[in-house]
Amino acid sequence: MDTASPLESPPPQVLCPLDQIPDGGATAVDAMLADGEESLILLRQGEQVRGYLNICPHAGNRLDYAPGKFLLKNDTLICAVHGATFNRADGLCTGGPCRGQHLRTVPVCVIDDAVCLEHAGSA
Ligand code: FES
Repeated sequence: MDTASPLESPPPQVLCPLDQIPDGGATAVDAMLADGEESLILLRQGEQVRGYLNICPHAGNRLDYAPGKFLLKNDTLICAVHGATFNRADGLCTGGPCRGQHLRTVPVCVIDDAVCLEHAGSA
């Protein structure tokens, strides 16, 4: 008798404890993505965390001025290399040399006070 194999998804990749990110602040973590290991920007607001690739659309540099240290002003993330400004909420560049472009979103979630990588939708 055939048995249907359950569709089990692998456990989520834990990126860091939520409290490693100051509320209203940001940090950088390394994550294993489909294309290999990448640095991610994690931006926290309360219990919500947004994730972006730590790659500036202008010249491909990291946005932090030191590992995990980002320039933040109100709702804006500022690239430390040439000063492009990005909305925290959607990664849109609102000023600077790559105005109109976006940071690449990486879906993350919070599970049991840990920030985890969300799996890409499976077929
Ligand atoms: S690399 Fe970010 S503004 Fe130039």
